[in-house]
Amino acid sequence: MAKILIIYYSESGNTAEMAQLIAEGVKMKEDVEVNVKDVSDARVEELLEVEGVIIGSPTYYGSMAAEIKKFIDESVKFHGKLEGKVGGAFSSSAQIGGGNETTIMDILKAHLIHGMIIQGSPKGDHYGPVAIGKPDERSRKLCIEYGYRIATLVSKISSLSQ
Ligand SMILES: Cc1cc2nc3c(=O)[nH]c(=O)nc-3n(C[C@H](O)[C@H](O)[C@H](O)COP(=O)(O)O)c2cc1C
Repeated sequence: MAKILIIYYSESGNTAEMAQLIAEGVKMKEDVEVNVKDVSDARVEELLEVEGVIIGSPTYYGSMAAEIKKFIDESVKFHGKLEGKVGGAFSSSAQIGGGNETTIMDILKAHLIHGMIIQGSPKGDHYGPVAIGKPDERSRKLCIEYGYRIATLVSKISSLSQ
């Protein structure tokens, strides 16, 4: 069965809550498994074992938290080996216009440099789900939908390679 790993860093719980909501969405796709991990419990080796990787971070000065950056930098160990996997990103910030989209783009850039496949969205949050503080009704819905969309893509790509 195809697998998605959701990795996040969260100091006050908002990004962690988004990670769980995205996982809920993934679980709606029956042929895809999901594992959610705090970045401090995740090892870069695990990236090799999954078909999709979704990374979430609070917005810190318009970019990802150092803990997430460190994990991404460690993934250089597998540079070239993650090509063709699906990547995604999400972020929580304190304010609208506080940099959550630039945070997502920074994570997506790392996925692209690994040769991963990114899916945007023509409606809702175009680059990946965002929340302002604790996810509200709008963010909750978009996180669940995002999980389902990424799982659907992972499922399609995995069926091609079988
Ligand atoms: C060091 C630091 C930098 C931050 N920088 C920003 C920022 O640039 N823009 C913003 O809107 N919020 C910023 N915040 C607020 C967090 O992004 C926000 O509280 C977020 O919801 C925290 O997520 P968490 O509950 O997963 O830790 C910052 C918080 C900290 C601690």
